[in-house]
Amino acid sequence: MQLSRVVAAVAGAAAVFCVMVLPADAESQSARSSPVPITQTLGQLGDRAGIFMGTAVDMTALDNEPTYRARVASEFSSVTPENVMKWQLVEPTRGVLDFTAADELVSFAQANHQRVRGHTLVWHNQLPTWLTTGVANGSITPDQLRDILRQHILDEVGHFKGKVAQWDVVNEALNEDGTLRSTIWLQQLGRGYIADAFRWAHEADPRAKLFYNDFNLESLSAKSDAAFALVQDLRSQGVHVDGVGIQGHLAVQFPAPGTIQENMKRFSDAGLLTELTEADARMVLPADATKLEAAAEAYRVMLDACLLTRHCGGVTVWGFTDLHSWVPGVFSGQGAADILDANYQPKPAYNALRTDLVLAARSHGDDD
Ligand code: G3I
Repeated sequence: MQLSRVVAAVAGAAAVFCVMVLPADAESQSARSSPVPITQTLGQLGDRAGIFMGTAVDMTALDNEPTYRARVASEFSSVTPENVMKWQLVEPTRGVLDFTAADELVSFAQANHQRVRGHTLVWHNQLPTWLTTGVANGSITPDQLRDILRQHILDEVGHFKGKVAQWDVVNEALNEDGTLRSTIWLQQLGRGYIADAFRWAHEADPRAKLFYNDFNLESLSAKSDAAFALVQDLRSQGVHVDGVGIQGHLAVQFPAPGTIQENMKRFSDAGLLTELTEADARMVLPADATKLEAAAEAYRVMLDACLLTRHCGGVTVWGFTDLHSWVPGVFSGQGAADILDANYQPKPAYNALRTDLVLAARSHGDDD
């Protein structure tokens, strides 16, 4: 299946790359020459092409906005909690675990036959205040911190055992130059914290797929070289690591990642899974037609790289509507990073993803 998917994707991508700027009715043109119904969602088209198509989920929006909720349920085959599995939210008070919101998402996903990616166990952001304060004032010693981290991973992965298919075990541990980021984890525990985190996650759920996840891993670079070396080193120590999550936070004012396919191939050739875990493509506002087409191309480059990589399991967008996006709050003056606009209307990026998925599915032989 994987091999035929690659052949299919090559054919599909080759066809699509000839059409650099999609006409507005490209999707219907494609559909006219394809038996794949245009009513199919990204998730359904992804199934046909052999990959998951996912989204990050904002639980406040899911709870309060019927349109958002309906779209998450229908459009995607995989979900990742945007925030509610992070340590700050699951253990705001030391020793008091609160998985309420995360459980709700898992139940929602089960009801809608969706895969769940767990995000994230070890990160330097969104940590509980009791933990950061305790480390800062010395009331939590390095030995205690190691025990706390172990318990956190055992608690959380254990709680979701059998329900979360993949975990981003360690998130964003690398600097751009490939050195390890100076976090409380590295400072207090040394570099062995990464191997330990994977060991504890595997102990808590031996069947979950375990990922190292980071941004700016798309192209060949010092950082992606370091991620490749890191997972190889872990494996040489006998540490269970299944794959690498390539976040895919792109911006149209920068060049598209030209070596993404070559980069992903080396992970795949080494027997590692890959996923695009947090795809989006922001732009300096206001948006215009040229920027929106460039964003569509950025999404397409990521999707096609996944379709062309033997062990790439899917593409998750980090939010799907501009109504709920992390971008404007972090990058002042930027936004419009998602595949639907703030009124849930499709943007060129959405149509580009659909078009390439239709072509990949059709070439895959799954066109009846
Ligand atoms: O929960 C509080 C709420 O109680 C409070 O009223 C509100 C006021 O601002 O803040 C809420 O917390 C916010 C949280 O999202 C939940 O909405 C934080 O301020 C805000 O900083 C936080 O942002 C998240 C960010 O990670 C934190 O670094 C974004 O939603 C989330 O999209 C983003 O996701 C990260 C991935 O986990 C890792 N890769 C990068 C990606 C984008 O930054």
